[in-house]
Amino acid sequence: MSAPTAPRPVTPLAILAASLARLEEEVTSGDAVDGVVLAQLRRARELACGLDPYVVACTTPASPALAALARRTDEEDWGSGPAGGGVLEREMLSGHLEGQTLKMLVRATRATRVLEIGMFTGYSALAMAEGVGEHGVVVALEVDEHAAQLAQECFADSPVGDRISVRLGPALATLEALAAEGEVFDFVFVDADKPGYVDYFRTLLDRGLLAPGALVCVDNTLLQGEPYLAEGRSANGRAVAAFNQAVADDPRVEQVVLPLRDGLTLIQQVEA
Ligand SMILES: C[S@@+](CC[C@H](N)C(=O)[O-])C[C@H]1O[C@@H](n2cnc3c(N)ncnc32)[C@H](O)[C@@H]1O
Repeated sequence: MSAPTAPRPVTPLAILAASLARLEEEVTSGDAVDGVVLAQLRRARELACGLDPYVVACTTPASPALAALARRTDEEDWGSGPAGGGVLEREMLSGHLEGQTLKMLVRATRATRVLEIGMFTGYSALAMAEGVGEHGVVVALEVDEHAAQLAQECFADSPVGDRISVRLGPALATLEALAAEGEVFDFVFVDADKPGYVDYFRTLLDRGLLAPGALVCVDNTLLQGEPYLAEGRSANGRAVAAFNQAVADDPRVEQVVLPLRDGLTLIQQVEA
């Protein structure tokens, strides 16, 4: 197993912080450096680089089970492992800040039936299971068998792991099956393939999978800044931009985009 390298920056802020740090290095290695420009650049770099660590430091620490799951995911060789030719990567894990946010949102909304679309190794599923209460359930959808296996091993080591029920397979088909079974959810976290986002959103609404007042949280809605940058949109960036537009144009819902990590959108159906 290869030793893990430093994580790649995958949020708009982390990318900005890394760019500013590189720029400062380049400017200071030059001959004639304007003192005022350098001071401003240093301040900008400090503002950007310091924000995430400070926010994390002020947030309630993760439970031992969540910390162990994150370590296990980090140690996994995603590049050449059985997960399949590097399709999955450890940077997919949502992590401490988002996990704590989801856990508190689930608890604050008193949700008892939680659905996750895109589980990976289970960090967000386990965080939501910690917020859902002893009679609650988290139904987590995942298409990759290896990620699901790793998640279930970690759930077994958590006191709340038995609240999570994993459904393996393509999420859209599983959503149809859940609708046919008459399942309804109070809280949904969408975090699977970005080109699928519009279909997941519409299926949740059209197939009656949402309880009255349900909260839908969607991850990566700022996708490394691509939706608002003028150039350089990837296929995922285009998919997320189209999703954001589809939500904004849908009169059935209200939404807010929070600039938390890579963007978290909260959506609720408006009363008819
Ligand atoms: C960003 S990761 C999820 C991270 C996870 N929510 C967390 O917080 O750690 C996206 C996951 O969605 C899964 N996925 C992608 N396409 C899918 C599909 N069509 N159906 C179900 N899962 C899918 C991927 O295998 C991957 O594990």
